[in-house]
Amino acid sequence: MTSPMRPPSRQGTPALAPGRADLAAPRLRDASASDAEQVARIWNRMIQQTLATFTSTLKTPALVRDLMAARHADGHGFIVAADPTSPAAILGFATYGQFRGGVGYARTLEHSVVLDEGAQGKGLGRALMQRLEDHARAGGGHSMMAGVSAENPSGLRFHAAVGYAEVARLRDVGFKRGRYLDLVLMQKML
Ligand SMILES: CC(C)(COP(=O)(O)OP(=O)(O)OC[C@H]1O[C@@H](n2cnc3c(N)ncnc32)[C@H](O)[C@@H]1OP(=O)(O)O)[C@@H](O)C(=O)NCCC(=O)NCCS
Repeated sequence: MTSPMRPPSRQGTPALAPGRADLAAPRLRDASASDAEQVARIWNRMIQQTLATFTSTLKTPALVRDLMAARHADGHGFIVAADPTSPAAILGFATYGQFRGGVGYARTLEHSVVLDEGAQGKGLGRALMQRLEDHARAGGGHSMMAGVSAENPSGLRFHAAVGYAEVARLRDVGFKRGRYLDLVLMQKML
């Protein structure tokens, strides 16, 4: 049985790094059910077009809505970045849950972070991760894991840039498009 974390207090939106403000302060906020369709679209592009995630099963908006509700009920974060010029448009999201089930793992989290193609490389991933880690820390989280496909060099470099260190490389644990794939586990102490 999982143990809900403390619901963290709301935090301010972290500023983008100086010189990386191409997306002029995107609004980072808790996800709501009305975001589910856009989140599913962003997620599904990665699922269909890349080996960054091992699953081939597409996310329906209903499934994303259920995940948002479950994360919030557990005191875990599900944060979206909204386009400042069109706040209903979602540029990307980040969310975390427990790394593994059971109360003994309640302070060890694992996240997913995905941006729309046009929103990448402008500092938004870093801003989302800061916000997500603040949320996890405020809820009593001790460390955050990232499970990154070895076929996703951008994801590996991004996580290293925002403070994650490789702690394990699991051989052939993924299978997609007829190939076995390695998973790199990276960890950041919160
Ligand atoms: C991975 C992802 C979340 C990164 O977000 P982003 O907004 O593009 O990254 P940022 O612009 O915030 O970059 C943050 C840091 O990571 C580094 N970085 C990001 N992508 C990089 C790349 N491809 N190569 C080298 N460094 C990279 C940046 O140099 C930056 O470091 P700096 O601030 O010291 O210059 C985003 O590109 C994405 O959604 N990719 C597709 C989905 C995916 O792979 N998700 C991760 C699954 S594990």
